[in-house]
Amino acid sequence: MPAFYCYENEYGIFMIHPLTLTLDDQLLRDRNISVCIYRGDLEYADAPGNKWHKLRFNLAAAKAQGAKHLISFGGPFSNHLHALANTAQQEGMIPVAIVRGELQPQLTPTLRDFVAAGGILWPSKRVDYRAGMESDFVSSLKGYYPDAFWVPEGGSNSLGVKGCYYWANAIKQQADEIGSFDTWLVSAGTGATSAGFLANDNVPNMLVFPALKGGEALLSDIHSLALQQNPDSHLQRLSIVGEYHHGGYARLPSELKDYIEQLHQLNPHLRLDPVYTAKLVYGVEQEIRKGKLTNQKLLLIHTGGLQGWRGYQ
Ligand SMILES: Cc1ncc(COP(=O)(O)O)c(C=O)c1O
Repeated sequence: MPAFYCYENEYGIFMIHPLTLTLDDQLLRDRNISVCIYRGDLEYADAPGNKWHKLRFNLAAAKAQGAKHLISFGGPFSNHLHALANTAQQEGMIPVAIVRGELQPQLTPTLRDFVAAGGILWPSKRVDYRAGMESDFVSSLKGYYPDAFWVPEGGSNSLGVKGCYYWANAIKQQADEIGSFDTWLVSAGTGATSAGFLANDNVPNMLVFPALKGGEALLSDIHSLALQQNPDSHLQRLSIVGEYHHGGYARLPSELKDYIEQLHQLNPHLRLDPVYTAKLVYGVEQEIRKGKLTNQKLLLIHTGGLQGWRGYQ
């Protein structure tokens, strides 16, 4: 078991290490709880965390179809759009983004990177953005890009779920070297990552922490995405813990900001992102404080997203 940081072994870089929480160690020992984190943020610099896994089969399908453009949706700080631009460019496709809301004269760092990767931006009125593929706006863009491959917001289609299904195998292989974890804990936006994990029988029980308000409603989406990937998915293994959204998507109240800083002091080699993983780790601590998760070995999944900090300067 690595005492401090990821190390290299015969399989490559070992990505799991213990996580020091702000809770008293003695309390964790008394409750027989151990906490480790899988460092997805250290995978694939161009598409870290869950990003590469949600995109890889989409990229393969786009290439197989001979698509010249890879089009998707996202906000001005979207981790998904950022990863899509990097990976599309490497595969010789032109990335195209439908961006939520008006474009500001000064592009965000995320969108600047998108353009630097050869990408094209289309601002979209919020009403059109909400309508997604059904909007007239998208219909007209289909005329401009007849050869395009379309990826939904967040990379959350069956190909994205499939990528996360296989990602779970890679995580499990490393986890097995340490012993058996009782529960995997993961943050959610669309729920595609959780669905891929849930579809994979190698994954034990799961607790999902939505970054958005009303995230409990994700349960049925996650179930149906998981069942598409594996009709025999054991759905009861997954529960949603919906109360740690901190006011909603992209909200960073001072309580959460302070927590992120405290956790960084305790784990100097680890950075959490403000939108997803910070809420996950904070939520796990709160659940333990409430007396939950006793007698469990917990594996938190770091799903990346660190480029998103640029929205909080
Ligand atoms: C860093 C990060 N973590 C977690 C998620 C949530 O993933 P999903 O939308 O698959 O639930 C996202 C969104 O894609 C993300 O960018």
